[in-house]
Amino acid sequence: MAEIVVFASGTGSNFEAIVHGLSGTPHMVACLITDNPNAPAVDRAKRLGVPHRIIPYGKPRIEAETRIRAALEPYRPTLIVLAGFMRLLSPGFVDSFPDRILNIHPSLLPRHPGLNAIRGSYESSDEDAGITIHIVDHGVDTGPILFQKSFKKSECHDFEEFEDRIHTLEHTWFPVVINDYLAKIEEPVHRR
Ligand code: GRF
Repeated sequence: MAEIVVFASGTGSNFEAIVHGLSGTPHMVACLITDNPNAPAVDRAKRLGVPHRIIPYGKPRIEAETRIRAALEPYRPTLIVLAGFMRLLSPGFVDSFPDRILNIHPSLLPRHPGLNAIRGSYESSDEDAGITIHIVDHGVDTGPILFQKSFKKSECHDFEEFEDRIHTLEHTWFPVVINDYLAKIEEPVHRR
């Protein structure tokens, strides 16, 4: 059985999809961590009965990360999952959890990294669009890709339909990819 900690800054729809998607597996979401006290993800955590910790960011970010490390200590998670976490983790933090941090991004990386990827993908001349789930490295949306799922943009009539299609793919596949990844890795890692 693996304990997972999800980091999210906003709506938290992927967080909720992961909680539901992992029920019925040996794994569980042990905690939600957010940098945003007003994140709807916090309401979802309360409703789902998942413990949450609010850790606001100031400068330097390393201070927030120190508090995050302390918050993780009781869980010693096998995997950290970034699901709409709007902060860039420091290289030191990432190196503490080698190959144990996953991120989801709403485009077919390496196309459209960073912010506003859904809009960027929609307005581009690309014929296809989709989602990427990858291991986090020191860059922004640059880590090794675990999974991608695409569709033809021409299948969507407008931006709302396009956005819905992206989010449906995310909610469907993120729990599956997490479960598959957990099957491939073994020991909890929590280096300092
Ligand atoms: C998702 O589109 C995800 O790909 C991106 O941020 C969004 C988070 O949405 N990284 P939500 O908070 O899970 O609803």
